[in-house]
Amino acid sequence: MRTMQSDYMHWAKFKSPVRYPLTGSEVPHFRMDSLPISIADFDLDGASHPRYRPLRERIASRYDVTPEQVVAADGTSMANFLAMAALISPGDEVLIEHPTYELLIGAASFLGAEIKRFERKGADGFRLDPDQVVSMLSERTRLIILTNLHNPTSVLAEEAELRAIGELARRMGARVLIDEVYLDSAVPPRPSAAHLGPEFVCTNSLTKVYGLSGLRCGWILAEPKLAERMWRLNDLFGVNQAHPAERLACLAFENIDQVIGDNPAMFARNRAMFNDFVADRSDLECAAAKHGITAFPRWNGGDTERLDAHLRERYDASVVPGRWFEMPDHFRVGFGLSTPEFKEALNRVGAALDDLK
Ligand SMILES: Cc1ncc(COP(=O)(O)O)c(C=O)c1O
Repeated sequence: MRTMQSDYMHWAKFKSPVRYPLTGSEVPHFRMDSLPISIADFDLDGASHPRYRPLRERIASRYDVTPEQVVAADGTSMANFLAMAALISPGDEVLIEHPTYELLIGAASFLGAEIKRFERKGADGFRLDPDQVVSMLSERTRLIILTNLHNPTSVLAEEAELRAIGELARRMGARVLIDEVYLDSAVPPRPSAAHLGPEFVCTNSLTKVYGLSGLRCGWILAEPKLAERMWRLNDLFGVNQAHPAERLACLAFENIDQVIGDNPAMFARNRAMFNDFVADRSDLECAAAKHGITAFPRWNGGDTERLDAHLRERYDASVVPGRWFEMPDHFRVGFGLSTPEFKEALNRVGAALDDLK
């Protein structure tokens, strides 16, 4: 049965709010009114101009590709869906990492893919291991899908690993789709895998690292012929982006340092605090967080639904239970709170873990 809904996204949207949520995976929202905006920026003249060139150019310039390699989409969500819709025919075999972001599996299933999984092993620090991909690959594999940084662990895939997987795909006539929505929070930032060869198709947005999820400014980087195919296919879905959002996204790119602001320093402080927290606890296991906005510790107390329920009930705090990533004894923590709030949230997780010992 093909997937017709995302239970994870439904949960993420409608769970009851708490004072100290560690469930988020993005920075605090950036206020656009701190930029020099004029009413002309909202002018609808041009809404019908196809493939709004100024935005393509700004994305291309930031990611060092040509505008012909850029396809616009509503957030990384639609970028992933559009990329898959262009690359998957019903019955195609698609290989997806485990654990992963649930919507990647859902979209591939909706499109009629036959889904196989390759492991990112906890015992191996969740690293991207080309041998695991080889072990599941077949001549029917059309697409390999992964996240970099990895959601939920934030583990960085090294260039050599990506090149090895690209080589495997090339030999099979397959492609590699990489969701790079967290990549700009690597330390230091890494270039997109779009530079590694035409078999790579990469998606991203101004959502997670930039605090601009409301703009729904997403994109795909792909070789020009494939990019053209995606633009044409997108005429079936949305035709054009909302034009005021395109204009505001251009402004964000023009002021990108201001948009990024103190976020990298905040992540560094929060990661260090999280690493100290885990080091002090014998009931948690987690490699030191080096990159990104999330971590995925293992709890020795069993199903982390219990931990989240207790946190909500007693401590007005929350984490993402690991069952949403098919690993119920883990939980995901997000680093996107201000450092004082993050510290308080961790204190509360510590208290809840103590209660449940
Ligand atoms: C891996 C991954 N891709 C995409 C998204 C959604 O991004 P956007 O809001 O840009 O659609 C998320 C959000 O949680 C995510 O974790």
